[in-house]
Parts: sequence; C-alpha cells; structure tokens
Amino acid sequence: MTAEDEATDGKGPDGEPPHGEALAGGTVNAGEVFRRGSLVDRPAPPTAPALHTHLRALRRHGFEGAPLPVGLTADGREQLTFVPGDVALPPFPPWALTETALASVGRLLRRLHEASAAVAVDLRAEWPRDLADPEGGTMLCHNDVCPDNVVFRDGRATALIDFDLAAPGRPVWDVAMAARYWVPMLDPESAATLYPGGGLDVPLRLRVLADSYGLSAQERAELPEVIGQTTAACRAFVATRVAEGDAVYRRALAERGGWARWDRLQSWLTTHHAAFTTALLS
Ligand SMILES: Nc1ncnc2c1ncn2[C@@H]1O[C@H](COP(=O)(O)OP(=O)(O)OP(=O)(O)O)[C@@H](O)[C@H]1O
Ligand SMILES: [Mg+2]
Repeated sequence: MTAEDEATDGKGPDGEPPHGEALAGGTVNAGEVFRRGSLVDRPAPPTAPALHTHLRALRRHGFEGAPLPVGLTADGREQLTFVPGDVALPPFPPWALTETALASVGRLLRRLHEASAAVAVDLRAEWPRDLADPEGGTMLCHNDVCPDNVVFRDGRATALIDFDLAAPGRPVWDVAMAARYWVPMLDPESAATLYPGGGLDVPLRLRVLADSYGLSAQERAELPEVIGQTTAACRAFVATRVAEGDAVYRRALAERGGWARWDRLQSWLTTHHAAFTTALLS
C-alpha cells in the first residue's frame, strides 16, 4: 500500500540487510526489498506467475516502462530487473511535484494501458481485490500508482514498479488512483505533511493529468465520482489491515488523525466535486 495513506519511512528494522542493499520506499514489504546489482529481490505476490507472464507480454508489445521478471524462487520471493532512476519518497521533493512530472505520469500510464489492453488478462488468476475496480474489466490496471511506485529519469516518469495490487479494471479507475497520489486529491490539511510547500492547484493539476493521459470526455465526466470510489477503496484497505491488527497501519492511522482524517478528506472531495468536473470538462 502507499505512502500517502498510512506509511512509515520504509527502512528495515535491522540496519544492514544480509541479502543486498535494502531499498527504501513502500510499506507492505518495507525492509524486505533488496537490490543486488541489476536485480531486485522482493517477496512475491500470490499472483506472481500470472503477473510475470503479463509483464513479459507488456514488453513484447513494446512497453518498456516496467521491470522484467527474472525469477521466482521456492521461498516465495521474486527477482525483477532493477530500473535505474529516482523514486520520490515522502515528504515528496519539489521535482516530483512539477507539472512536467505530473504530465509524464499521465503519459506513462496511458502507454501502460495501451500495451495492457493488447494483452489478454488471465482470468483464471486470483487477482487481488484490495484496490481493484469493483466494476472489473478486461484490462489489467496497476492500481497503486503512488510516487513510491514510479521511477523517474531527468524529471520524467519512465517506469512503474510494484504491480502487486494489479487487477482487471477500467482505465479510468487507474487514472483516479494516480490522481489521488499525484495531483494529489487530498484536502489541504492532509496534503500538507506529505506534499510540503503546499499551494498545489488541485483542479488545474487534475486537468493536467487528464490531458496528458488523453482521457475521453466520457471518462472525464466520470472521473470525480471514480476518485471518490478509489478513496473509499483505499480507506477500506486501511480498515482491513487495522482490524487484522497490523501494527504499521494501526500506528500510522493514529499518528495521521485517525478516521477523522478520512472523513475530512471524503467530505472535501464531495464539496469540490463540481469544481473538479468543471476543470476537467471546460
Ligand atoms: N524494479 C525496481 N527498480 C527500481 N527500484 C525498485 C524496483 N523495485 C523496487 N524498487 C525500490 O524499492 C522500493 C520498495 O519497493 P516496492 O514498491 O516493491 O515495496 P512495497 O513495500 O511492496 O511497496 P508498497 O507499499 O507500495 O506495496 C520502491 O519504492 C523503489 O524505490
Ligand atoms: Mg511499492
């Protein structure tokens, strides 16, 4: 899950890791993701066999903006190519918040979707429901396009990593997820700690993302509603982990203002729904 929601700094608990250089960023596998030269070694998601097939097919369709799977080991770990570049970690640095960066994320997501739409989804695989589009679909969405999961070079997004939550869905669902994190679709108080400096023009940035992605008029009309739905899905994701007793999510939820923060964010989205629609369609 993603830094904006309930993250820690992603550092491993034991200092120097035994398996290579520990990579910072991410929450679910914090302290468990290592780099060894040109490879990344990380816990494999349950869908790894189907996901690896999909990632290889994306590459055959000309999409180079994702790691290539290299191996899957019996101890439940996977090896992927390391993608050189910069990953923005919270609090997000100014270079990750430029309109150039935002537009490059929109273009990268569009290229992913064009390749993904050309690959038949393996419908026998049990894709995770956690952040999946409840309407389903025939295209595999990434579903977790947060800053920690995008690699930049020269200030532009070049690759998406961490497809653990990928599942079939509508393209607009993935755009809404990306908007949550990259615009970001957060009330000013929630945005302040993770996006320091403030002053981000949310309607304008939402428009920049939609334009750079090339969102259709119909999808633009749907987007504010879908952003509300993705926000509810992320809240439910956190609620499930908290109910399971996950210490990281429990602590982060408490530190971030508890459910009141989610209530505030969701009512802010409702209040500004019409302004977002106007910005997208004007
Ligand atoms: N293939 C890769 N190429 C380059 N960097 C990578 C790669 N895989 C992971 N990283 C780096 O390691 C960090 C953590 O990896 P990853 O996203 O897999 O962790 P995670 O805990 O599963 O994340 P999340 O909480 O989003 O599920 C990333 O934010 C990125 O900085
Ligand atoms: Mg990640």
